[in-house]
Amino acid sequence: MSHEIRALSEEDLPLLQEMETYCFPGEEWTQKMLLSHLEYHQAFVRPQETPKTYALVCETPWEVEIFRIATLPDYRKQGEGKKLLFSLFQTYPTKDFFLEVKENNIPAIQLYETSGFQILEKRKNYYPDGSTAIIMKRNKEL
Ligand SMILES: CC(C)(COP(=O)(O)OP(=O)(O)OC[C@H]1O[C@@H](n2cnc3c(N)ncnc32)[C@H](O)[C@@H]1OP(=O)(O)O)[C@@H](O)C(=O)NCCC(=O)NCCS
Repeated sequence: MSHEIRALSEEDLPLLQEMETYCFPGEEWTQKMLLSHLEYHQAFVRPQETPKTYALVCETPWEVEIFRIATLPDYRKQGEGKKLLFSLFQTYPTKDFFLEVKENNIPAIQLYETSGFQILEKRKNYYPDGSTAIIMKRNKEL
């Protein structure tokens, strides 16, 4: 595993909860959801004393799905998200990556498009608020 990344464990639940609160106000995952994610899937930060960015992913035998990636508001547009994303690619070099993103989430779409993701399809009325989802894929390193 790359030294530029740290896998989180259930001990990191308070850190994850705090970051969720700052990064997704009003849409944060509950403690139960985060704990369940840590139990069954994977979560990562960059190895900083105080992490600025984190990712929640789900690895299957065929692919890696990114459920969430976020950077604390004060540290955005400083390359943090992209560094973590590229460390994820190094961590899973043999896997394709998938994700879904709201069509109006321009910062996230910029991050993904400048990191090698391409649009696979759009799904209208996908989210509870009626907005469209964009499904994106990044092919494994060949
Ligand atoms: C999306 C998000 C993770 C980006 O993190 P970040 O650390 O600010 O991203 P970076 O600084 O690494 O930027 C990556 C690229 O996206 C671009 N970008 C980032 N924010 C942008 C914005 N607000 N507008 C336009 N482009 C933007 C950067 O210019 C950069 O491109 P470049 O490398 O070609 O210059 C961050 O905005 C965030 O946490 N948003 C809230 C949570 C969220 O919506 N997550 C995604 C869905 S789960």
